[in-house]
Amino acid sequence: MKNWSIKAKVWSAIFAIIVAVSVGALAMTFFLYERLYIDKQIDRLFMEGQELRTVYAEHGANDYFFERIQWANDSKELTLTYTEDPMQLGSGSPFEPFANEHLITFDERQQLLEGETVVMIRENAYFEQKILGVALPLFDNEQLAGALFFSLPLSDVYEPFLNVGKILLLSLSTIILLIILICKKVVNHVVTPLTDMKEAAIQMAKGDFSLRISSTRSRKDEIGQLAESFNTLSSSLERVEEKRREFLADVSHELRTPLSYMKGYAEGVEEGVIDPSKGLSIIQKEANRLERLVNDLLDLAQLEGESYVMKDEPIAFAQLVYEVVEQFRYLAAQKRLQVHLDLDEDVIISGDPDRIEQVIRNLLDNAIKYAHEETTISLTIGREGSRAQFILSDQGIGIPEDKLALVFERFYRVNKSRSRKKGGTGLGLAIASQIIKKHGGTIDITSQELKGTTVTITLKTL
Ligand SMILES: Nc1ncnc2c1ncn2[C@@H]1O[C@H](COP(=O)(O)OP(=O)(O)O)[C@@H](O)[C@H]1O
Ligand SMILES: [Mg+2]
Repeated sequence: MKNWSIKAKVWSAIFAIIVAVSVGALAMTFFLYERLYIDKQIDRLFMEGQELRTVYAEHGANDYFFERIQWANDSKELTLTYTEDPMQLGSGSPFEPFANEHLITFDERQQLLEGETVVMIRENAYFEQKILGVALPLFDNEQLAGALFFSLPLSDVYEPFLNVGKILLLSLSTIILLIILICKKVVNHVVTPLTDMKEAAIQMAKGDFSLRISSTRSRKDEIGQLAESFNTLSSSLERVEEKRREFLADVSHELRTPLSYMKGYAEGVEEGVIDPSKGLSIIQKEANRLERLVNDLLDLAQLEGESYVMKDEPIAFAQLVYEVVEQFRYLAAQKRLQVHLDLDEDVIISGDPDRIEQVIRNLLDNAIKYAHEETTISLTIGREGSRAQFILSDQGIGIPEDKLALVFERFYRVNKSRSRKKGGTGLGLAIASQIIKKHGGTIDITSQELKGTTVTITLKTL
């Protein structure tokens, strides 16, 4: 039973129930039939006996009495015997050839002698089968003067039952057939999705996440919900797998580009077609770029790992931002950008100072990179409810509305070659959003194309 499939288990249970119910129903019907029918026969014989007793009591054993006995015997199955001596019944009379067979037992004869009616069902050698016997005493002036003995072979009693039995068997088979059909539907309804899920799970284990359970479409019950969760699971696994593949392709591509530049320029210098100092400076630039890329990737891998632990220290937010701005003064000055600061110095956040600094650096780097020349970049620190809020706005090229949701994705750049020229890896915002997420904060970006971009961060305060 342990290794049986659910289908086998359910079906064996259904068959066991069907067999039990059928046997029970047949036995019950037979029992009730026997009871009712035999009781009815006894009543019939008893009433006929009573009538004869009345005739006997009024007129004695006259012609009419014997005529009535004859009538009773005319009905094919019934035998009615009259005897003047009840003892004869006990001795086997009136069925002489079977004189040694007693129609009634000694005890029953005693009952008869005491004036009681005796009912019996027993094997009888004369009739060669079971008979139903009813013996009634006859009285003359309150003296026992004789006895009437009705006997009815029981095969005759059961004969109608056999007819009924056929109908019963037929209807029972129809019901069983119906039950089996209904159960088949129900079992399939329950088991098919489970089998489908098992198949899909096996495929998933092999790395194929494309299978979906379709047999439960529009089902709202538990199986339907289970199948839906299963489908959601395989969809998200499929997405994860797709992302992983995409990421791997992106990484290879991002690594290959600087490498092929370096190889190309090295060959050019070697063959004397490129000026060595120019070639070397490009090779150095690409090597730096490669280093940045590898560092960023390493950062991301660390941040996405479950085991990465952030420091949790009080940070004077304004101080930290101010220090980052100082690092970028030169770059900003190159583009003649105004940096406008509005920093609430009382805001103390809690978190990892190196990581928060990395976020501000990434954001400020973008703002300066994508700002129009001679515009203003403004940085604000304030409070928004119980949280610290950092807002960084630039007046620059902005981000198209439909690309806004994508900029936090790894390697996503609105304009690949432009970003590359400016040394971007496409990982800055992905890293920033991971860090903020790990701090339990939020990061949002709004933008107007050609006008400018605003990034808002909220973090918990101490
Ligand atoms: N302040 C901004 N103004 C305009 N575009 C931006 C800004 N910040 C980010 N972006 C867009 O989002 C992309 C992703 O940013 P990021 O992850 O920092 O990558 P990177 O700066 O290396 O290109 C950028 O390539 C750029 O297209
Ligand atoms: Mg960037």
